[in-house]
Amino acid sequence: MDTEETIGSVQRSGTYTFQWTKLHLPRWKTDPLRYEYDTVAAKALEQLQVIAKAKGYSDDPRKRPDLYQLLVENHASHDDLQEFWEQLHTVPDWVDWKQLERGQRFFYRYAAANLMGFALQGFVGENSAASGVVEVLVRTGGFSTRVLLHRLLETFQWLLQVTESLQAIQPGGTGHISTIRIRLLHSSVRQRILKMVKSRPEYFDVETHGVPVNTLDSIHSIATFCCNHMWLQLPRMGVYPTQQEKEDYIALFRYLGYLLATPDEYFATVDQAKATMESMLVHELTVTKTSRVVCFNFIKSLVDLPPFNVSKDFIEAGSRVLNGDELCDKLEMGRPGWVSYACFKGHCWLVSALATAQRLSPTFDHWIIAHWKLLLHSAVIQSGLKGASKFDFKYVPQEGIKVEKEGNGRKGVSYGILSRPVEVFYLGVFLLGLILAIAASTLIAAGLWIVTPYPRNSGV
Ligand code: HEM
Repeated sequence: MDTEETIGSVQRSGTYTFQWTKLHLPRWKTDPLRYEYDTVAAKALEQLQVIAKAKGYSDDPRKRPDLYQLLVENHASHDDLQEFWEQLHTVPDWVDWKQLERGQRFFYRYAAANLMGFALQGFVGENSAASGVVEVLVRTGGFSTRVLLHRLLETFQWLLQVTESLQAIQPGGTGHISTIRIRLLHSSVRQRILKMVKSRPEYFDVETHGVPVNTLDSIHSIATFCCNHMWLQLPRMGVYPTQQEKEDYIALFRYLGYLLATPDEYFATVDQAKATMESMLVHELTVTKTSRVVCFNFIKSLVDLPPFNVSKDFIEAGSRVLNGDELCDKLEMGRPGWVSYACFKGHCWLVSALATAQRLSPTFDHWIIAHWKLLLHSAVIQSGLKGASKFDFKYVPQEGIKVEKEGNGRKGVSYGILSRPVEVFYLGVFLLGLILAIAASTLIAAGLWIVTPYPRNSGV
């Protein structure tokens, strides 16, 4: 049986160490949350399904209803829908819109570091090792390499929509609407899996993993979305968010968590949010066979993807830097050579230098934020997804469908200087940094020698 951590004890997760405090969450507090879930949305979903059926919609992909639209049209005439609607449109008194707007800028300010961290630590490390979460993910089929990239783009779409502008996250805004769609999607996933468990209990082990998309998993996910950047990702790339940035970004996700029925008290302050993240690291990360499948397919779906053609070695080097060797070995990741580590170092030096320059020049900072916003919105939503997704339920859990390790169907990249532009660029940054460091050390040594020349005939 797992024992509780003692207050004051030093805890370790990979290369990250911290002290257990009163703010950390003991198991007796978190374990029951595995069996709690978003009952308000679950009841609303059932009501929406009754309305949809009466209107002639069905499970057939061509005849599926737009649940959000049905909610808009019918919320006033059904108690369960009204309760759901009211919860979503009541702004908690702790929300400070100005602060949330600052939080939104954080995402674009350090976009290169945030995206790299989110992919290699958030997905590869944390998500793969969240054993209950991955059991749900492989059952929706969305972790098959054929659809994984599309799902990743959809997740980024949501992130871009909730960081786009203040209006976007206020009731009625695009990010607000997308978040409601995600909440209904989560309820559909849970409902579908639980329905199958009724006739075949072995399909999903509710006793071990809890209810699918439960409250504890949601707290864990929100922590991954907002806290991991601050303590597990950016500092390992040489970027150190300020206290204000931490407060603002965590406040933004406290509000988004609230919209997704995630108890917000775990993110009420920076210290509490940090303790929540650390408690999840200690209690919730276990590498299983399914973790390896999810991690394998995630890497496969990104490798050699045009136009950047990023290599497996680069992804593995970055993952090892951000997650530590212990976890990556458990996930059966390869051990790349030094060139890939040098490329990743180039990335770290670049984002770190940019962050310093942005702090020195607010004009440059504004320029970076505006350009990343423009670039990401057009690359992800317009080019990648060919228009915003409505997050409908595409990968419906079915008997017999459970994702295993898969290839990506791509031929691979032939060797050439320009075949992997991102890595070549980062290697260039690394070599330039190395040359500058050697030149600076030589200059300093020469300067010191001029000021205090070394004695030529010492001791004779
Ligand atoms: C509370 C924080 C969470 C956020 C912000 C979030 C966000 C999202 C987003 C943006 C999508 C749509 C894009 C995609 O298909 O990947 C999505 C879908 C999904 N999420 Fe979450 N999620 C959260 C928690 C969870 C948890 C705790 C689980 C499960 C244990 C989960 C399971 C799923 C599944 C299975 C889908 C895909 C449904 C399909 O196949 O269409 N999510 N989520």
